[in-house]
Amino acid sequence: MEKNYKRHLITAALPYANGSVHIGHLAGVYVPADIYVRFLRLKGEDVLFICGSDEHGVPITFKAKDLGCSPQEIVDKYHAIIKDSFNRFGISFSIYSRTSSKIHAETASEFFKKLYDEGKFIERESEQFYDPSAQVFLADRYIMGTCPKCGNDKAYGDQCEKCGSTLSPEELIDPHSRLSGEKPVKKMTRHWYLPLDKYEGWLKEWIIDGHKEWKTNVYGQCKSWIDGGLKPRAVTRDLDWGVPVPLEDAKGKVLYVWFDAPIGYISNTRELLPDDWEKWWKSPDTRMIHFIGKDNIVFHCIVFPSMLKAYGDGYILPENVPANEFLNLEGDKISTSRNWAIWLEEYLDQFPGQQDVMRYVLCANAPETKDNDFTWKDFQARNNSELVAIYGNFVNRALVLTNKYFEGVVPGYAEEDLTPEDRKLMETVPEIVANLNNCLEHFKFRDAIKEAMNLARLGNKYLTETEPWKVFKTDPKRVAVILNLCLQICANLSIAFEPFCPFSSKKLQAMLSLAQKKDEVCPQSVPEGLVKWENLGRWDLMKEGDRIGTPELLFSKIEDETIQAQTDRLARIKKENEEKAAAEAASHPEPLAPECTIDDFAKMDIRTATVLQAEAVPKTDKLLKLTIDTGVDQRVIVSGIAEYYTPEDMLGKQICILANLKPRKIRGIESNGMILMAKDVTGKMRFITPQEVMPNGAKIG
Ligand code: MF3
Ligand code: ZN
Repeated sequence: MEKNYKRHLITAALPYANGSVHIGHLAGVYVPADIYVRFLRLKGEDVLFICGSDEHGVPITFKAKDLGCSPQEIVDKYHAIIKDSFNRFGISFSIYSRTSSKIHAETASEFFKKLYDEGKFIERESEQFYDPSAQVFLADRYIMGTCPKCGNDKAYGDQCEKCGSTLSPEELIDPHSRLSGEKPVKKMTRHWYLPLDKYEGWLKEWIIDGHKEWKTNVYGQCKSWIDGGLKPRAVTRDLDWGVPVPLEDAKGKVLYVWFDAPIGYISNTRELLPDDWEKWWKSPDTRMIHFIGKDNIVFHCIVFPSMLKAYGDGYILPENVPANEFLNLEGDKISTSRNWAIWLEEYLDQFPGQQDVMRYVLCANAPETKDNDFTWKDFQARNNSELVAIYGNFVNRALVLTNKYFEGVVPGYAEEDLTPEDRKLMETVPEIVANLNNCLEHFKFRDAIKEAMNLARLGNKYLTETEPWKVFKTDPKRVAVILNLCLQICANLSIAFEPFCPFSSKKLQAMLSLAQKKDEVCPQSVPEGLVKWENLGRWDLMKEGDRIGTPELLFSKIEDETIQAQTDRLARIKKENEEKAAAEAASHPEPLAPECTIDDFAKMDIRTATVLQAEAVPKTDKLLKLTIDTGVDQRVIVSGIAEYYTPEDMLGKQICILANLKPRKIRGIESNGMILMAKDVTGKMRFITPQEVMPNGAKIG
């Protein structure tokens, strides 16, 4: 942060209100944003932390249709769930509002209207798919059909979720409308476009030349978008759910969700500060930071800034957009439709009082520079061997020993009592604090949380090495020094960990009776009255004679059974998904291959044969070596069926083979021919056998 800003406007991507929040959202966006905001607040900065539900867009209308209710009912339900779970998790938004609010509709319409009036849009007619019986234009998602690539008959007009191909509605085989089931027709429609191509030069200057310090993943994506050439983007849609286009002749049209959603940041600020919002958005003294996931980069770095630029009127641009990559779960992509996720509200119910554990793990494992994996085992390990064994253990020992030896009163010491060991400790802390600050300032939260833990590690090691329990009898004065320093470190830990693990910091500050000292406590912006960040590194936070409270455990061990229950749940979900996929596959065989002629077929000499010998091919798990009698000769075929048959299964069986296939070496063994197998879409195989035993060498045709 080179410039001296007066205030910080921190936004976190508005989650869609058509489902709950899961650990992927948390690790990618909300945990890092909250850490940063808490850090700034503790430093006494003026901060707004803006978020809310993104309540428009086509998927919400689907969910409503599937459940037989209105889109408003859907967003009401999920907005409440999301808001409540964020709150319980300690995500400290200044406001969490929603884009179906009146003030948002006003703000977004006004925004559009001004751009329209000033000729900032271009108007275009184009052909779009239309449902003649429902009499509406169809978004790509509203069109379903068969995927030309994999045969999935439930592919969408923009994407096949089975094979992952990006599609256009034109490519779908047998397209039909999700609304009426009817075949869509093309019809002319008119829309407004933001000509991003006109902003290309400016974007280049602003990002490519001006923001080289942005994260490489963010900068790289921006660069490739800009280098690839920007095109005008439609900012309106034919849809009946959204902010209506505020023009006379635009019935049935709404603002595109990606036009209205980022304006939600503005409307939510207005809602919070009706008279004072402008200084947060239109003053060069305000620093704006967008926390988002990687799929949002283009909208926050290119589209929304171009909208703000087009609007003018002093609107500021983001100073940074620290987007994260994605978090996976136990090796698989998190997926709402496959229920492959850990849902925040479920976590909160199943792990009461353990918000900090998840916050800690998600930060320590955040997908900052590449996709990353969450595993329950790692969750347990980080809790048990870091939070419990280092941070919690250190604090507990320091407090228990103070109670034991000094009746809970902070002991004092004189400067000359300090040993080289103590001085070494006191010199190391400022290094950790400097690193911690540096990491936090540069959005390196994984490294930052490591530094915070290093502080605990340092204290833990010091206490273990100085062994006050052995020294007390002979040298109580020495123990006074040791415990005084340990208590200072505890106090420092409560500050250092506050951005990451606020619940335990609060608890710790209460145990140390630290938060009651008015002068050290944050003024306005931290409601809990936490100790200011600037106190970090002090060795006099706990004063001689101060009385500490009753020690309580900050963290508790997570048992194997608890983790087992979670991994069992995931295993169950995985099995269900596999069964569903298999059932689906069974009812949807592979599409037919292109037409062939009888001559094509006649080239193949297919015969009956009997397996004389069968053995596994060493060092492979897929291959069997079969010696067979073809009636014409005896020969060897190497076949990839070991997953489905043991050598014993095959022995003596009559099979069918492609007998005139060109020989080829497989694992050093010459294979002469191919065994005919039936194979389903999941890959399961069974060999083909004549309905009655036939002489070997009988020709099949
Ligand atoms: N709802 C979008 C998503 O989940 C994010 C919207 S961010 C905003 O991907 F900028 F539009 F608000
Ligand atoms: Zn497909």
